[in-house]
Amino acid sequence: MRLIFMGPPGAGKGTQAARLLSAFGVCHISTGDMFRAAVKAGTPLGLQAQRHMSAGELVPDAVTIGLVRERLKQPDAQRGFLLDGFPRTVPQAEALAAALEADGVALDGVLVLEVPDAYIVERIVGRRTDPETGTIYHVRFDPPPAAIAARVVQRKDDAEEVVRERLAAYHAQTAPIVPIYEARGLVRRVDGLGTPDEVTARIQAVLA
Ligand code: AP5
Repeated sequence: MRLIFMGPPGAGKGTQAARLLSAFGVCHISTGDMFRAAVKAGTPLGLQAQRHMSAGELVPDAVTIGLVRERLKQPDAQRGFLLDGFPRTVPQAEALAAALEADGVALDGVLVLEVPDAYIVERIVGRRTDPETGTIYHVRFDPPPAAIAARVVQRKDDAEEVVRERLAAYHAQTAPIVPIYEARGLVRRVDGLGTPDEVTARIQAVLA
């Protein structure tokens, strides 16, 4: 299975990807996670990415495309993948199409998780992550268990003013990709409102 997971920041892509992985056994390729790992490691890529991420801007295409091309060559990506947060621009979508064509494989679908802007800030500002397991929580909708509540952290780019920039970048640069995939008959839209379990059930129904 080769899937793209799209949707605005905070739509629930990471939350749902974690649930789908156990069901489908494909690898989860999240460019956001890859950039955050590079930032944590203090690599040159991380330093470059951090400048853009903390401003709510996209990391330049040349950097992002090179990173994903290398990741797709790894053995675990040969069995299939769930791309989360990539592509995010038209040039990224074109580069992905060229890479898949060169490998003689095709996308199975593009899931677009739809959540209106009005819900996004609350979802993102309340997000907390367990640094040991990567599990995503929310202070109100999915509070961390008491045993780990003291160690959960907030992402630096989850400040309200940065969220608004990320949302603007989504509408200006990422949403225009959807019609490209729609024209190829690949898009399935999923309502991202409701509980995480309800959203998972909708996604599973679409995938079935
Ligand atoms: P990235 O990490 O990809 O962030 P994003 O797309 O903005 O998405 P998020 O991770 O914020 O949200 P999500 O949809 O995964 O939601 P989640 O499940 O956590 O990118 C970060 C940055 O990296 C970008 O801004 C950019 O700078 C750079 N970058 C990454 N990829 C790039 C690319 N391809 N090109 C250029 N730059 C790139 O859920 C959010 C919260 O809501 C959680 O607290 C969760 O518990 C809660 N929640 C989830 N589902 C529900 C529900 N159904 N009801 C209530 N609450 C819910």
